[in-house]
Amino acid sequence: MRLQLQPAALWSSTVATALDDWLATRAQPRICLATGTTPDPVYRRLSPALVSDATIFLLDEFGGLPAGHPGRCESMLREGLLHRARVPASRFVYPDVDAADLDAECQRYQQLIDDGGLDLVVLGLGPNGHVGLNEPGSAADTVTRVVQLEDTTRVAAAQYGIVEAPTWGVTVGLRTLLSAREVWMLVTGRGKRPILERALQGPIDPDCPASLLRVHPNIQCWVDDEALRSSFDGSGRPRSASSGGGQA
Ligand code: PGA
Repeated sequence: MRLQLQPAALWSSTVATALDDWLATRAQPRICLATGTTPDPVYRRLSPALVSDATIFLLDEFGGLPAGHPGRCESMLREGLLHRARVPASRFVYPDVDAADLDAECQRYQQLIDDGGLDLVVLGLGPNGHVGLNEPGSAADTVTRVVQLEDTTRVAAAQYGIVEAPTWGVTVGLRTLLSAREVWMLVTGRGKRPILERALQGPIDPDCPASLLRVHPNIQCWVDDEALRSSFDGSGRPRSASSGGGQA
């Protein structure tokens, strides 16, 4: 895993520039995007013209919220990015959590992803180590499915303006994340420090789903200097504070 460590004040603009550069060199890329407080400032800085060439798959969605609720992941992505980027409806793809047959809907969504795969997945990191809504205990071979949410995830959902915390959701699975051609994990803020260290340095096991991504051959972790102590290099050796890249 390549570490991209940035000062907090520059983090979102640096990641947005990197993502713009990535988009500029791809024709009609298929990208899967997380929502949440971490990626949102990055999305708001992206070039609309570059994004509008992509097909965008939503990483996950909360269940049980009314259509159009601002706390829905779909709404957050529309508000933070898609209303500016004018991605045609046919190229914004997301699971219908209101479907009567959710298992069939998950299979449909998985098939849409598998028909071409994913060029890039952009992830956040949950306080319990989840990526998407792959909660602790999720296996590396999981696909799109309905999941029950841990209390930490339900509590964290309050920051998206969700008063009645959702108990379940739908998420793209770890097998799909691991088979994406490229993965970027975005992590900011002091509160994420313990789980980030666990994800980067702890055992690779389903108790911390993000740790399973360490085996991916092309993964970068974009972190700010609040989430990752500048002395940390993933091996216990000291490193410089201003470095842009390193291995964990
Ligand atoms: P956050 O969410 O970016 O809002 O902290 C991260 C996550 O749960 O994936």
